[in-house]
Amino acid sequence: MRDESLILEMMLDHTPSTFVLGPLAGLELSRFVPNPPPVYILDQLVAEMHPAWLEQIQNNCTNCEQRTLLVQGGEQFKSLNQLEKIYQWLSEQALTRDGTIVAIGGGTVLDLVGLAASTWRRGVNFVSIPTTLLAMVDASIGGKTALNTAGIKNPVGSFYPARGILADVGFLGTLTCSDWRNGMAELVKTAAIGDAVLFAELHAARKKLNKTLGHSEADQPVPGILGALPWGDWVGRAATVKVNLVNRDFKEKGPRKALNLGHTLGHVLEAHSHQSDKPLSHGQAVAIGMAVVFRIAAERNLCPVPQALEMIQLLEACGLPVTWPAPPVDLLETLLAGDKIVSARSGLSWVLPERIGKIKVDAKVQPAELLRWLEAPEEG
Ligand code: GLY
Repeated sequence: MRDESLILEMMLDHTPSTFVLGPLAGLELSRFVPNPPPVYILDQLVAEMHPAWLEQIQNNCTNCEQRTLLVQGGEQFKSLNQLEKIYQWLSEQALTRDGTIVAIGGGTVLDLVGLAASTWRRGVNFVSIPTTLLAMVDASIGGKTALNTAGIKNPVGSFYPARGILADVGFLGTLTCSDWRNGMAELVKTAAIGDAVLFAELHAARKKLNKTLGHSEADQPVPGILGALPWGDWVGRAATVKVNLVNRDFKEKGPRKALNLGHTLGHVLEAHSHQSDKPLSHGQAVAIGMAVVFRIAAERNLCPVPQALEMIQLLEACGLPVTWPAPPVDLLETLLAGDKIVSARSGLSWVLPERIGKIKVDAKVQPAELLRWLEAPEEG
């Protein structure tokens, strides 16, 4: 393996899972495929933007085109309908229980293909190659798979770790500004829950972040951003925080819940916004969720006010929103009750910051507190 690489080992429910970060990490694929050849399910945009890289990854594979399914990522991809299409294709591939599925793409592709891998033939070997910042620092690590249904985000899924996770920040150069912002929301979150030094570095870099991400068009690439900031270092440190958490608590009984910082409200706003003509991306929704819980924590004297302000400054510097029109209060309550973070025994569980790097899980928050930091509902 190359010197610049970082390798992090996890043992999740007696299953080993290895995170490899480095230039051309995808070339390590064969280490994680016991019975080649694998099948590949990959984001069509990645195939278009990185054909040479794909050719290298699939170097030893005969009939590769037939063994590759191109898909379109995005929240709409995480549906029962798409899962059924994947099953149909796996059946055409005659993928047996000792086979391997390699998923290549962002978080939404990894979530759904991971679910397919965990259920096809009651579970086949799974390898993921995350190609977005969000997927590298969050979605690819820790084995959560999911799809969206019944108007709820991620209610169906499994814990099913990828045997290998092969991350190469070289992919990030072709991301749109919206993808960068989504990834920044999860990177900032991870730093806020587990690495105060990384958070301080991100905050100190906010002028550069703002220059590149603050004002760009959401659907456009961001020239120069890859070389302007230490992405490899940042991704490695965020991945380390997440690896440590999931190693301690794979099934999210305790410490792993910290990773839901900003997500309780974020999921609700995200799902609700998709019924409107102003859909929020996952990162935008999480950013609003984090800004709101930091304000609530500061108001309760749980978290120092200057740290709440730093969080808001950093999110704004990345071009992320920090407030949003509230759904009507009765709808807000209904949506919160439907979220996956609700437990029958203890109700809805909130994650609140005590300070940057220290998080309180299983906190309680009332809708009225949320409404204080959201905008008035929009008319009509
Ligand atoms: N994305 C949150 C978690 O993996 O627990």
